[in-house]
Amino acid sequence: MTLATRAVLFAALAAAPALAQPAPARADADPAALVDALNAVFGKHDGKRAAHTHGFCIKGSFAPTAEAGRLSKAPHLSAKGPWPVVGRFSMGGGNPAAPNTQKDNTRGLAIHIDLGDGNQTDMVMITAPVFVAKSPEKFLELLQTVASKDKAKIDAFFAANPESTRQKAWLTARPVPASYATTSYFGVHTFTLTNTDGVRRIIKWQLVPSAGEIGLTDEEAKSKAPDFYKPELTERLAKGPVEFTLTAILGEPGDAVDDPTALWPEERQPVAMGTLSFSALEDDAVCDAGIFDPANLVDGIEGPANDGVFQIRSPTYAVSFSRRAQ
Ligand code: HEM
Repeated sequence: MTLATRAVLFAALAAAPALAQPAPARADADPAALVDALNAVFGKHDGKRAAHTHGFCIKGSFAPTAEAGRLSKAPHLSAKGPWPVVGRFSMGGGNPAAPNTQKDNTRGLAIHIDLGDGNQTDMVMITAPVFVAKSPEKFLELLQTVASKDKAKIDAFFAANPESTRQKAWLTARPVPASYATTSYFGVHTFTLTNTDGVRRIIKWQLVPSAGEIGLTDEEAKSKAPDFYKPELTERLAKGPVEFTLTAILGEPGDAVDDPTALWPEERQPVAMGTLSFSALEDDAVCDAGIFDPANLVDGIEGPANDGVFQIRSPTYAVSFSRRAQ
């Protein structure tokens, strides 16, 4: 999508009236209902994202490997680069002060890759390979149940929907990342890559940190300030770039393609697709001027056709944007 098209879209959305108060619970999981439900759990914070509220903006570049071009004809994967990147690290959830020390919360990394001529493509990833709900309806039900603060109802939700316990189990089995630079980020959904010969492969994205996966002990985490990631990254960037290897995990026939709560078997083959390199912090206004849109893809990369969570993300982010841009 071109930047001009996006600017028109966002201007139109920003002109739409916003709800002053979260609406009462609704059964249909439309984008506005999802934003209302996020606000009901985390509060409504004027001018801020309804989710992944606590974060900051960075910049750098992306350079593909030779192998990447054999899997996808997407411009940034098949032509050398480097391609300019703007990104944003964030904490999951809609709390603007979500502590960096929280173990059972995802971290997020969203990027725009500048393809030239006003075009860009986006990736929006988290530090767990699975999402908390298999459909928008289930996510809405989960948010509304959590907002009720009724422990019995919350326990009953997780008992009835065991796939929604996987993300927390995955996170709590691992340490708090020592830095935004020392953890993997996952695309969660299944994407299809197409190369110039028309060969199609299903994959999942993972950004693997060049600094290694480094976590804090629970004691170390307790001793950190709730907002320690930004100064930590600033100090790290002063010494050199912060890098990740963009990896495509190759799926096999029978692997789940439309369920963002499903894990693929561990033995799936990873292919190094390129290096994402951050060089400096960027003004937050640059990241806040639009959305990082998971559906903003290019020829050579397709999103999942029947994954309801993937389908609803882009319009939901647009609603969140339209309200925070007011
Ligand atoms: C139905 C499911 C989901 C809903 C309703 C939802 C909702 C939202 C909303 C409202 C925002 C703020 C958008 C903005 O104002 O710019 C957001 C941001 C974000 N979401 Fe989701 N999300 C969903 C699924 C996911 C999944 C599956 C992932 C990971 C693969 C994810 C990762 C992120 C990240 C990293 C951001 C921050 C982007 C930024 O820094 O601007 N979300 N989400």
